[in-house]
Amino acid sequence: MTVTFIGHGYVGLVTAAVFADLGNTVWVIGHTPEKIANLKKGIIPIYEPGLEELVKRNVDAGRLQFTLDYKPAIAESDVIFIAVGTPPRPTGEADLSVVFDVARKVGENLAGYTVVITKSTVPVGTNKKVQEIIEKAKNGKALFDIASVPEFLREGQAISDTRHPDRVVIGTESEKAEDILYNLHKPIIEGGKGDKSRLVLTTIESAEMIKYASNAFLATKISYANAIARLSERAGADALAVLEAMGLDKRIGTAFLQPGAGYGGSCFPKDVKALVAIAKDYDYDFGILKEVEEVNKQAMLDIVRKAQEMLDGDLKEKKIGVLGLSFKPDTDDMRDAPSIIIINELLEKGASVRAFDPIALKNAKRILGDARGLSFTESEYDVARDADLLIILTEWNEFRQMDLGKIKMLMKTPRLLDGRNIYSPWQAQELGFSYKGVGR
Ligand SMILES: NC(=O)c1ccc[n+]([C@@H]2O[C@H](COP(=O)([O-])OP(=O)(O)OC[C@H]3O[C@@H](n4cnc5c(N)ncnc54)[C@H](O)[C@@H]3O)[C@@H](O)[C@H]2O)c1
Repeated sequence: MTVTFIGHGYVGLVTAAVFADLGNTVWVIGHTPEKIANLKKGIIPIYEPGLEELVKRNVDAGRLQFTLDYKPAIAESDVIFIAVGTPPRPTGEADLSVVFDVARKVGENLAGYTVVITKSTVPVGTNKKVQEIIEKAKNGKALFDIASVPEFLREGQAISDTRHPDRVVIGTESEKAEDILYNLHKPIIEGGKGDKSRLVLTTIESAEMIKYASNAFLATKISYANAIARLSERAGADALAVLEAMGLDKRIGTAFLQPGAGYGGSCFPKDVKALVAIAKDYDYDFGILKEVEEVNKQAMLDIVRKAQEMLDGDLKEKKIGVLGLSFKPDTDDMRDAPSIIIINELLEKGASVRAFDPIALKNAKRILGDARGLSFTESEYDVARDADLLIILTEWNEFRQMDLGKIKMLMKTPRLLDGRNIYSPWQAQELGFSYKGVGR
Protein backbone atom coordinates (compact mmCIF):
# COMPACT_ATOMS: atom_id res chain seq x y z
CA MET A 1 0.00 0.00 0.00
CA THR A 2 0.99 3.62 -0.31
CA VAL A 3 0.69 5.41 2.98
CA THR A 4 1.27 9.01 4.06
CA PHE A 5 2.07 10.24 7.56
CA ILE A 6 1.67 13.90 8.39
CA GLY A 7 4.00 14.69 11.29
CA HIS A 8 7.38 13.10 11.98
CA GLY A 9 7.48 13.18 15.78
CA TYR A 10 7.63 10.27 18.21
CA VAL A 11 4.43 8.80 16.73
CA GLY A 12 4.57 9.79 13.04
CA LEU A 13 8.20 8.91 12.35
CA VAL A 14 8.22 5.62 14.25
CA THR A 15 4.97 4.35 12.72
CA ALA A 16 6.00 5.50 9.26
CA ALA A 17 9.34 3.69 9.52
CA VAL A 18 7.70 0.48 10.80
CA PHE A 19 5.10 0.47 8.00
CA ALA A 20 7.85 1.13 5.43
CA ASP A 21 9.83 -1.74 6.92
CA LEU A 22 6.84 -4.01 6.30
CA GLY A 23 7.15 -3.25 2.58
CA ASN A 24 4.72 -0.37 2.12
CA THR A 25 5.60 2.78 0.19
CA VAL A 26 5.54 5.51 2.80
CA TRP A 27 5.59 9.29 2.49
CA VAL A 28 6.16 11.54 5.48
CA ILE A 29 5.00 15.14 5.19
CA GLY A 30 6.61 17.75 7.42
CA HIS A 31 6.45 21.52 7.61
CA THR A 32 10.02 22.50 8.54
CA PRO A 33 12.41 22.57 5.53
CA GLU A 34 15.51 21.99 7.65
CA LYS A 35 14.06 18.90 9.37
CA ILE A 36 12.88 17.43 6.07
CA ALA A 37 16.31 18.04 4.50
CA ASN A 38 17.92 16.29 7.49
CA LEU A 39 15.48 13.37 7.38
CA LYS A 40 16.32 12.83 3.72
CA LYS A 41 19.95 12.45 4.82
CA GLY A 42 18.96 10.07 7.63
CA ILE A 43 19.34 12.64 10.45
CA ILE A 44 16.31 12.30 12.71
CA PRO A 45 14.94 15.12 14.91
CA ILE A 46 14.21 12.95 17.99
CA TYR A 47 15.92 10.23 20.00
CA GLU A 48 14.28 6.82 19.98
CA PRO A 49 16.35 3.65 20.30
CA GLY A 50 16.86 1.93 16.93
CA LEU A 51 14.94 4.57 14.97
CA GLU A 52 17.84 6.15 13.08
CA GLU A 53 18.91 2.78 11.66
CA LEU A 54 15.33 1.84 10.77
CA VAL A 55 14.75 5.15 8.99
CA LYS A 56 18.03 4.94 7.13
CA ARG A 57 17.45 1.37 5.99
CA ASN A 58 14.03 2.21 4.58
CA VAL A 59 15.17 5.48 2.98
CA ASP A 60 18.02 3.59 1.29
CA ALA A 61 15.55 0.95 0.07
CA GLY A 62 13.39 3.70 -1.46
CA ARG A 63 10.34 2.79 0.66
CA LEU A 64 10.42 5.86 2.92
CA GLN A 65 10.35 9.39 1.51
CA PHE A 66 10.14 12.80 3.14
CA THR A 67 8.53 15.88 1.64
CA LEU A 68 7.08 19.31 2.38
CA ASP A 69 4.70 18.98 -0.54
CA TYR A 70 1.21 17.55 0.04
CA LYS A 71 0.29 17.10 -3.60
CA PRO A 72 2.09 13.96 -4.81
CA ALA A 73 1.99 12.13 -1.48
CA ILE A 74 -1.73 12.68 -0.83
CA ALA A 75 -2.79 11.98 -4.40
CA GLU A 76 -0.89 8.66 -4.51
CA SER A 77 -1.83 7.37 -1.05
CA ASP A 78 -4.40 4.72 -0.15
CA VAL A 79 -4.19 5.67 3.50
CA ILE A 80 -3.27 8.95 5.23
CA PHE A 81 -2.39 9.22 8.90
CA ILE A 82 -2.61 12.56 10.66
CA ALA A 83 0.03 12.29 13.42
CA VAL A 84 0.65 15.90 14.41
CA GLY A 85 0.83 17.25 17.97
CA THR A 86 -2.26 18.06 20.04
CA PRO A 87 -0.75 20.08 22.90
CA PRO A 88 -2.83 21.45 25.76
CA ARG A 89 -4.35 24.91 25.69
CA PRO A 90 -4.07 26.92 28.92
CA THR A 91 -7.59 25.71 29.78
CA GLY A 92 -6.53 22.04 29.51
CA GLU A 93 -8.41 21.30 26.27
CA ALA A 94 -6.42 19.78 23.41
CA ASP A 95 -5.31 22.35 20.83
CA LEU A 96 -6.59 20.91 17.54
CA SER A 97 -5.59 23.77 15.26
CA VAL A 98 -2.80 21.80 13.53
CA VAL A 99 -5.02 18.73 13.06
CA PHE A 100 -7.67 20.88 11.37
CA ASP A 101 -5.11 22.80 9.32
CA VAL A 102 -3.54 19.63 7.90
CA ALA A 103 -7.01 18.08 7.34
CA ARG A 104 -7.83 21.02 5.04
CA LYS A 105 -4.59 20.49 3.10
CA VAL A 106 -5.36 16.77 2.82
CA GLY A 107 -8.81 17.63 1.46
CA GLU A 108 -7.41 20.04 -1.14
CA ASN A 109 -5.08 17.35 -2.49
CA LEU A 110 -7.24 14.21 -2.35
CA ALA A 111 -7.65 12.17 -5.52
CA GLY A 112 -9.47 8.85 -6.07
CA TYR A 113 -10.51 6.95 -2.90
CA THR A 114 -8.52 7.42 0.34
CA VAL A 115 -8.89 6.49 3.99
CA VAL A 116 -7.96 9.43 6.26
CA ILE A 117 -7.02 8.47 9.79
CA THR A 118 -6.47 10.59 12.85
CA LYS A 119 -3.69 8.96 14.84
CA SER A 120 -3.11 12.00 17.04
CA THR A 121 -4.88 11.85 20.41
CA VAL A 122 -8.07 13.87 19.92
CA PRO A 123 -11.30 14.43 21.86
CA VAL A 124 -14.56 12.74 20.94
CA GLY A 125 -16.10 14.47 17.94
CA THR A 126 -12.80 15.55 16.34
CA ASN A 127 -12.86 12.98 13.53
CA LYS A 128 -16.31 14.13 12.52
CA LYS A 129 -14.96 17.70 12.28
CA VAL A 130 -12.01 16.42 10.24
CA GLN A 131 -14.55 14.77 7.92
CA GLU A 132 -16.45 18.07 7.48
CA ILE A 133 -13.23 19.99 6.78
CA ILE A 134 -12.08 17.48 4.14
CA GLU A 135 -15.56 17.33 2.58
CA LYS A 136 -15.54 21.10 2.20
CA ALA A 137 -11.97 21.32 0.84
CA LYS A 138 -11.90 18.40 -1.62
CA ASN A 139 -12.70 18.47 -5.29
CA GLY A 140 -15.98 16.84 -6.33
CA LYS A 141 -14.54 13.58 -7.68
CA ALA A 142 -12.37 12.57 -4.73
CA LEU A 143 -13.84 9.99 -2.33
CA PHE A 144 -12.76 9.28 1.23
CA ASP A 145 -13.68 7.66 4.54
CA ILE A 146 -12.41 8.65 7.94
CA ALA A 147 -11.19 6.47 10.79
CA SER A 148 -9.75 6.87 14.25
CA VAL A 149 -6.74 4.64 14.95
CA PRO A 150 -5.29 5.92 18.22
CA GLU A 151 -1.66 5.23 19.08
CA PHE A 152 -0.50 3.49 22.28
CA LEU A 153 3.29 3.28 21.77
CA ARG A 154 5.63 4.13 24.64
CA GLU A 155 8.59 6.40 23.98
CA GLY A 156 11.82 4.47 24.54
CA GLN A 157 10.18 1.24 23.28
CA ALA A 158 8.26 2.76 20.41
CA ILE A 159 9.50 0.49 17.60
CA SER A 160 8.81 -2.73 19.44
CA ASP A 161 5.43 -1.39 20.68
CA THR A 162 4.48 -0.55 17.09
CA ARG A 163 5.53 -3.96 15.80
CA HIS A 164 3.91 -5.85 18.69
CA PRO A 165 1.06 -3.74 20.02
CA ASP A 166 -1.13 -4.93 22.92
CA ARG A 167 -4.08 -3.92 20.73
CA VAL A 168 -4.91 -2.15 17.49
CA VAL A 169 -8.04 -0.03 17.76
CA ILE A 170 -9.81 0.79 14.50
CA GLY A 171 -12.82 3.08 14.76
CA THR A 172 -14.73 3.66 11.54
CA GLU A 173 -18.24 3.54 10.11
CA SER A 174 -17.05 2.31 6.71
CA GLU A 175 -16.61 -1.40 6.01
CA LYS A 176 -14.31 -0.59 3.09
CA ALA A 177 -12.06 1.54 5.29
CA GLU A 178 -12.10 -1.15 8.00
CA ASP A 179 -10.97 -3.76 5.48
CA ILE A 180 -8.15 -1.58 4.14
CA LEU A 181 -6.96 -0.76 7.64
CA TYR A 182 -7.19 -4.37 8.73
CA ASN A 183 -5.01 -5.38 5.79
CA LEU A 184 -2.49 -2.64 6.53
CA HIS A 185 -2.21 -3.69 10.19
CA LYS A 186 -2.44 -7.45 9.52
CA PRO A 187 1.29 -8.16 9.98
CA ILE A 188 1.25 -6.57 13.42
CA ILE A 189 -2.01 -8.14 14.58
CA GLU A 190 -0.86 -11.61 15.51
CA GLY A 191 -3.55 -14.21 15.28
CA GLY A 192 -5.66 -12.61 12.56
CA LYS A 193 -9.02 -10.90 12.64
CA GLY A 194 -10.56 -13.37 15.08
CA ASP A 195 -8.03 -12.48 17.81
CA LYS A 196 -10.16 -10.11 19.84
CA SER A 197 -7.38 -9.56 22.35
CA ARG A 198 -5.38 -7.55 19.80
CA LEU A 199 -7.86 -6.08 17.37
CA VAL A 200 -10.67 -3.78 18.45
CA LEU A 201 -13.12 -2.77 15.74
CA THR A 202 -15.36 -0.06 17.04
CA THR A 203 -17.04 3.27 16.38
CA ILE A 204 -15.09 6.47 15.82
CA GLU A 205 -16.30 7.99 19.09
CA SER A 206 -15.34 4.91 21.11
CA ALA A 207 -11.88 4.80 19.52
CA GLU A 208 -11.35 8.46 20.38
CA MET A 209 -12.43 7.81 23.98
CA ILE A 210 -10.38 4.58 24.39
CA LYS A 211 -7.14 6.53 24.07
CA TYR A 212 -7.93 9.15 26.73
CA ALA A 213 -9.53 6.60 29.04
CA SER A 214 -6.41 4.41 28.85
CA ASN A 215 -3.87 7.17 29.49
CA ALA A 216 -5.90 8.70 32.31
CA PHE A 217 -6.20 5.27 33.94
CA LEU A 218 -2.43 4.70 33.79
CA ALA A 219 -1.85 8.14 35.30
CA THR A 220 -4.37 7.21 38.01
CA LYS A 221 -2.41 4.03 38.81
CA ILE A 222 0.79 6.05 39.22
CA SER A 223 -0.89 8.61 41.45
CA TYR A 224 -2.49 5.83 43.48
CA ALA A 225 0.99 4.33 44.02
CA ASN A 226 2.27 7.75 45.07
CA ALA A 227 -0.63 8.25 47.48
CA ILE A 228 0.05 4.82 49.04
CA ALA A 229 3.74 5.79 49.26
CA ARG A 230 2.89 9.00 51.09
CA LEU A 231 0.67 7.19 53.56
CA SER A 232 3.19 4.37 54.03
CA GLU A 233 5.93 6.85 54.91
CA ARG A 234 3.71 8.27 57.66
CA ALA A 235 2.43 4.92 58.90
CA GLY A 236 5.80 3.12 58.86
CA ALA A 237 4.91 0.66 56.07
CA ASP A 238 7.14 -0.13 53.07
CA ALA A 239 5.15 1.04 50.04
CA LEU A 240 7.27 -1.04 47.67
CA ALA A 241 6.31 -4.23 49.49
CA VAL A 242 2.67 -3.09 49.69
CA LEU A 243 2.42 -2.23 45.98
CA GLU A 244 4.27 -5.34 44.86
CA ALA A 245 1.92 -7.54 46.86
CA MET A 246 -1.07 -5.63 45.49
CA GLY A 247 0.18 -6.13 41.95
CA LEU A 248 0.28 -9.92 42.35
CA ASP A 249 -3.50 -9.80 42.20
CA LYS A 250 -4.27 -10.37 38.50
CA ARG A 251 -7.09 -7.83 38.68
CA ILE A 252 -4.55 -5.16 39.67
CA GLY A 253 -1.22 -6.03 37.98
CA THR A 254 2.22 -4.65 38.83
CA ALA A 255 2.69 -2.24 35.90
CA PHE A 256 2.54 1.47 36.67
CA LEU A 257 2.30 0.81 40.41
CA GLN A 258 5.74 2.17 41.30
CA PRO A 259 5.94 5.27 43.48
CA GLY A 260 8.35 7.99 42.46
CA ALA A 261 8.86 11.63 41.59
CA GLY A 262 5.62 11.86 39.58
CA TYR A 263 4.57 11.22 35.99
CA GLY A 264 5.39 13.58 33.13
CA GLY A 265 5.93 13.45 29.39
CA SER A 266 4.03 14.51 26.35
CA CYS A 267 0.95 12.38 27.01
CA PHE A 268 -0.23 11.72 30.58
CA PRO A 269 -0.31 15.32 31.86
CA LYS A 270 -2.01 16.70 28.76
CA ASP A 271 -4.39 13.76 28.28
CA VAL A 272 -5.56 13.83 31.91
CA LYS A 273 -6.22 17.57 31.57
CA ALA A 274 -7.98 17.07 28.24
CA LEU A 275 -10.26 14.33 29.64
CA VAL A 276 -11.24 16.60 32.53
CA ALA A 277 -12.04 19.32 29.94
CA ILE A 278 -13.98 16.87 27.70
CA ALA A 279 -15.99 15.72 30.74
CA LYS A 280 -16.80 19.33 31.59
CA ASP A 281 -18.19 19.82 28.08
CA TYR A 282 -20.60 16.97 28.80
CA ASP A 283 -21.52 18.32 32.26
CA TYR A 284 -19.52 15.68 34.12
CA ASP A 285 -17.12 16.66 36.87
CA PHE A 286 -14.26 14.13 36.57
CA GLY A 287 -13.19 14.61 40.19
CA ILE A 288 -10.97 11.49 40.36
CA LEU A 289 -8.70 12.90 37.66
CA LYS A 290 -8.40 16.27 39.35
CA GLU A 291 -7.14 14.40 42.43
CA VAL A 292 -4.76 12.36 40.23
CA GLU A 293 -3.21 15.64 39.05
CA GLU A 294 -2.99 16.97 42.58
CA VAL A 295 -1.25 13.81 43.89
CA ASN A 296 1.17 13.97 40.97
CA LYS A 297 2.11 17.57 41.70
CA GLN A 298 2.57 16.63 45.34
CA ALA A 299 4.86 13.72 44.35
CA MET A 300 7.20 16.21 42.64
CA LEU A 301 7.08 18.70 45.50
CA ASP A 302 7.73 15.89 47.99
CA ILE A 303 11.17 15.48 46.42
CA VAL A 304 11.89 19.13 47.21
CA ARG A 305 10.51 18.74 50.75
CA LYS A 306 12.71 15.68 51.33
CA ALA A 307 15.75 17.52 49.95
CA GLN A 308 15.09 20.25 52.50
CA GLU A 309 14.73 17.69 55.31
CA MET A 310 17.99 16.01 54.33
CA LEU A 311 19.78 19.37 54.27
CA ASP A 312 18.66 20.47 57.73
CA GLY A 313 15.66 22.46 56.50
CA ASP A 314 17.52 24.99 54.38
CA LEU A 315 18.48 24.81 50.70
CA LYS A 316 20.23 28.19 50.55
CA GLU A 317 23.67 27.88 48.99
CA LYS A 318 23.45 24.09 49.03
CA LYS A 319 24.94 22.26 46.06
CA ILE A 320 22.60 19.65 44.62
CA GLY A 321 23.43 17.16 41.88
CA VAL A 322 20.55 15.91 39.74
CA LEU A 323 20.79 12.65 37.82
CA GLY A 324 18.26 12.32 35.01
CA LEU A 325 16.20 15.03 33.32
CA SER A 326 14.01 13.32 30.71
CA PHE A 327 10.54 12.33 31.92
CA LYS A 328 11.55 8.67 31.67
CA PRO A 329 14.57 6.63 30.52
CA ASP A 330 15.47 5.99 26.87
CA THR A 331 14.00 9.22 25.53
CA ASP A 332 15.17 12.79 25.01
CA ASP A 333 11.60 14.03 25.60
CA MET A 334 11.54 16.77 28.23
CA ARG A 335 7.88 17.74 27.81
CA ASP A 336 6.32 18.15 31.28
CA ALA A 337 9.24 16.24 32.83
CA PRO A 338 9.07 16.29 36.67
CA SER A 339 12.72 17.48 36.61
CA ILE A 340 11.53 20.89 35.34
CA ILE A 341 9.29 21.60 38.34
CA ILE A 342 11.66 20.02 40.86
CA ILE A 343 14.79 21.85 39.64
CA ASN A 344 13.00 25.19 39.44
CA GLU A 345 11.75 24.73 43.03
CA LEU A 346 15.23 23.80 44.27
CA LEU A 347 16.69 26.90 42.58
CA GLU A 348 13.86 29.07 43.90
CA LYS A 349 14.74 27.95 47.42
CA GLY A 350 18.35 29.08 46.96
CA ALA A 351 20.14 25.84 46.02
CA SER A 352 22.53 25.58 43.09
CA VAL A 353 21.92 22.59 40.83
CA ARG A 354 24.29 20.63 38.63
CA ALA A 355 22.48 18.22 36.34
CA PHE A 356 23.24 15.36 33.98
CA ASP A 357 21.21 13.26 31.56
CA PRO A 358 22.62 10.69 29.12
CA ILE A 359 20.42 11.82 26.17
CA ALA A 360 18.13 14.73 27.05
CA LEU A 361 20.81 17.37 27.84
CA LYS A 362 20.21 19.30 24.61
CA ASN A 363 16.45 19.59 25.18
CA ALA A 364 16.98 20.24 28.89
CA LYS A 365 19.34 23.13 28.14
CA ARG A 366 16.73 24.60 25.81
CA ILE A 367 14.00 24.39 28.46
CA LEU A 368 15.91 25.05 31.69
CA GLY A 369 19.20 26.46 30.47
CA ASP A 370 19.02 30.11 31.51
CA ALA A 371 17.95 29.51 35.10
CA ARG A 372 20.34 31.11 37.61
CA GLY A 373 22.30 28.64 39.69
CA LEU A 374 21.85 25.80 37.18
CA SER A 375 24.68 24.11 35.28
CA PHE A 376 25.02 20.88 33.32
CA THR A 377 27.76 18.25 33.28
CA GLU A 378 28.83 15.59 30.83
CA SER A 379 28.96 12.66 33.26
CA GLU A 380 27.11 11.23 36.25
CA TYR A 381 30.24 11.45 38.38
CA ASP A 382 30.80 15.16 37.68
CA VAL A 383 27.34 15.82 39.07
CA ALA A 384 28.45 14.44 42.43
CA ARG A 385 31.56 16.62 42.77
CA ASP A 386 31.35 18.72 45.98
CA ALA A 387 27.59 18.13 46.18
CA ASP A 388 25.71 18.26 49.47
CA LEU A 389 22.97 16.05 48.04
CA LEU A 390 22.46 13.84 44.99
CA ILE A 391 18.92 13.38 43.60
CA ILE A 392 17.95 10.68 41.09
CA LEU A 393 15.00 11.82 38.96
CA THR A 394 15.09 9.41 35.98
CA GLU A 395 15.82 5.69 36.23
CA TRP A 396 18.29 5.49 33.34
CA ASN A 397 20.00 2.09 33.32
CA GLU A 398 23.44 3.66 33.66
CA PHE A 399 22.42 5.09 37.05
CA ARG A 400 21.43 1.70 38.46
CA GLN A 401 24.88 0.38 39.21
CA MET A 402 27.04 3.43 39.66
CA ASP A 403 30.18 3.21 41.76
CA LEU A 404 28.62 4.60 44.94
CA GLY A 405 32.01 4.45 46.69
CA LYS A 406 33.45 6.81 44.09
CA ILE A 407 30.39 9.05 44.31
CA LYS A 408 30.75 9.23 48.09
CA MET A 409 34.40 10.31 47.73
CA LEU A 410 33.41 13.04 45.26
CA MET A 411 30.55 14.46 47.33
CA LYS A 412 30.93 16.99 50.11
CA THR A 413 28.48 15.02 52.20
CA PRO A 414 27.11 11.62 51.07
CA ARG A 415 23.36 12.10 50.86
CA LEU A 416 21.23 10.29 48.29
CA LEU A 417 17.61 11.15 47.48
CA ASP A 418 16.43 8.36 45.24
CA GLY A 419 13.32 9.67 43.44
CA ARG A 420 12.92 6.41 41.50
CA ASN A 421 13.83 3.85 44.21
CA ILE A 422 16.63 2.29 42.15
CA TYR A 423 18.94 1.71 45.13
CA SER A 424 18.08 -0.16 48.27
CA PRO A 425 18.26 1.86 51.48
CA TRP A 426 20.53 -0.68 53.23
CA GLN A 427 22.96 -0.70 50.28
CA ALA A 428 23.34 3.08 50.38
CA GLN A 429 23.39 3.27 54.17
CA GLU A 430 26.01 0.53 54.44
CA LEU A 431 28.29 2.70 52.30
CA GLY A 432 27.71 5.64 54.63
CA PHE A 433 25.08 7.55 52.68
CA SER A 434 22.14 9.18 54.31
CA TYR A 435 19.32 7.89 52.08
CA LYS A 436 15.70 8.64 51.31
CA GLY A 437 13.55 6.99 48.67
CA VAL A 438 9.84 7.26 47.94
CA GLY A 439 7.45 5.31 50.16
CA ARG A 440 10.15 3.47 52.09
N1 LIG B 1 4.66 10.59 22.14
C1 LIG B 1 3.96 9.55 22.52
O1 LIG B 1 4.43 8.69 23.27
C2 LIG B 1 2.54 9.38 22.03
C3 LIG B 1 1.92 8.14 22.17
C4 LIG B 1 0.63 7.99 21.71
C5 LIG B 1 -0.05 9.05 21.16
N2 LIG B 1 0.58 10.26 21.05
C6 LIG B 1 -0.18 11.34 20.42
O2 LIG B 1 0.24 11.45 19.06
C7 LIG B 1 0.26 12.81 18.64
C8 LIG B 1 1.65 13.20 18.19
O3 LIG B 1 2.51 13.05 19.29
P1 LIG B 1 4.10 13.11 19.15
O4 LIG B 1 4.67 12.76 20.48
O5 LIG B 1 4.51 12.37 17.94
O6 LIG B 1 4.28 14.67 18.91
P2 LIG B 1 5.59 15.41 18.37
O7 LIG B 1 5.52 16.77 18.90
O8 LIG B 1 6.78 14.56 18.61
O9 LIG B 1 5.33 15.43 16.80
C9 LIG B 1 4.39 16.26 16.20
C10 LIG B 1 4.74 16.39 14.75
O10 LIG B 1 3.80 17.26 14.14
C11 LIG B 1 4.49 18.06 13.21
N3 LIG B 1 3.75 19.27 12.91
C12 LIG B 1 3.46 20.31 13.72
N4 LIG B 1 2.78 21.26 13.04
C13 LIG B 1 2.64 20.81 11.77
C14 LIG B 1 2.04 21.31 10.61
N5 LIG B 1 1.43 22.49 10.60
N6 LIG B 1 2.10 20.58 9.47
C15 LIG B 1 2.70 19.38 9.46
N7 LIG B 1 3.28 18.83 10.55
C16 LIG B 1 3.25 19.53 11.68
C17 LIG B 1 5.79 18.36 13.92
O11 LIG B 1 6.77 18.80 13.03
C18 LIG B 1 6.12 17.00 14.50
O12 LIG B 1 6.79 16.22 13.55
C19 LIG B 1 -0.25 13.62 19.83
O13 LIG B 1 -1.63 13.80 19.69
C20 LIG B 1 0.05 12.71 21.00
O14 LIG B 1 -0.81 12.94 22.09
C21 LIG B 1 1.85 10.44 21.45
